[in-house]
Amino acid sequence: MSAFSAVEVITAKRDGDALSDDAITWMLDAYMKGEVADEQMSALLMAVFFNGFEPRELLTWTDQMIASGERLDLKGLSRPSVDKHSTGGVGDKISLILAPLVASCGAAVPQLSGRGLGHTGGTLDKLESIPGWRAFLSNDEIRSQLENVGAVICAAGQGLAPVDRRLYALRDVTGTVESIPLISSSIMSKKIAEGTDALVLDVKVGRGAFIKTHDRARELAQTMVSLGTSHGVATVAQLTSMNQPLGRAVGNALEVTESVDVLQGGGPGDVRELTLGLARIMLELVGLDVDPASKLDDGSAYATYRMMIEAQGGDPDAKMVEGACKDIVLAPQEGIIQSVDALDVGIAAWRLGAGRARKEDPVSAGAGVMCLARVGEFVEAGQPLFELFADDHEHLARGRDAITRAVVLGETSAPHEPLLLERISK
Ligand code: URA
Repeated sequence: MSAFSAVEVITAKRDGDALSDDAITWMLDAYMKGEVADEQMSALLMAVFFNGFEPRELLTWTDQMIASGERLDLKGLSRPSVDKHSTGGVGDKISLILAPLVASCGAAVPQLSGRGLGHTGGTLDKLESIPGWRAFLSNDEIRSQLENVGAVICAAGQGLAPVDRRLYALRDVTGTVESIPLISSSIMSKKIAEGTDALVLDVKVGRGAFIKTHDRARELAQTMVSLGTSHGVATVAQLTSMNQPLGRAVGNALEVTESVDVLQGGGPGDVRELTLGLARIMLELVGLDVDPASKLDDGSAYATYRMMIEAQGGDPDAKMVEGACKDIVLAPQEGIIQSVDALDVGIAAWRLGAGRARKEDPVSAGAGVMCLARVGEFVEAGQPLFELFADDHEHLARGRDAITRAVVLGETSAPHEPLLLERISK
């Protein structure tokens, strides 16, 4: 007979008690074996949502999530490894630039990524708009690409923290996603299992982020930094603003094109600024004294990007697709742009076909939004604000409806909002 009962574990957490390490270990293990039912785990997740975890409970819960699967072994690489995780934003194409950039500075960057859900895009969806590129690599392929190219962006294998996939699916349908201990353990179990030496967390805050307030973003960041550090992963979090979209392009192929512009030394200033800010932290964490800006400007980062894409079957010279149906949204009057709402733009891109509502849904490579005017710029009445792309007229009309209120115009200059908000380290 088992030493624990699921009902006792659930009621203890429901009543605000801390769970013993053994109870947590048993519960997750029994859930994976099918001895604890989905409805019982859902009840426990709801109890955690309301009553949280003490630091010791969170550590044990995360350890057990890691232990539910395999760990990638990156020891023995000739370069130090460092990864970046973003909590998700609109127009967030930073990984596509950052991974080859930091690799061109001498590190190994294992970016095991996911797909987009809802209004935020996924790195794999963006790269899959490149003809031939493949997201699935074996562990041996990951290691050899890290050694030879220095950067890998690929799908996180099913073997890393497999209990997370089942817990996340339950959280998604039981209103328990927005819990700091559950988000932290979900993200960090996968990153720790990935085997990286160091990690930078880009914690987004604002209209287009799933965390809307600075205080909550700080709490999430502190929790994740503490989990990483206690597992021997040098971890720093950077809170960054996600009120307006990053850069001008929002949509899969559109974002690849904009990333290549930045890799070639151009592109929007905010994308370059954030990429360099995160790159500097990553290099500092692994003790590499290299100026990343010089690697964008002298073509080394772009050369590494080309190798990274080719190593996974992609053609970096292929012409990127563009949605066949287009429309332009014009400014209704003249004025200075006070805000461009990242959430509205993200939802528009999603409705145009660039994102998915359920994880099984396909995405369009060519759909998306180009933001033609940015906060602080003056526009005349009738000047283009957005260019919309979709594969058919139905998606185009849906995207257009979503974007109509995205821009606020005013008569005064817009307040300047910094992009890099706060750095959090242990
Ligand atoms: N991303 C994850 O991987 N897990 C969460 O819980 C939230 C975002």
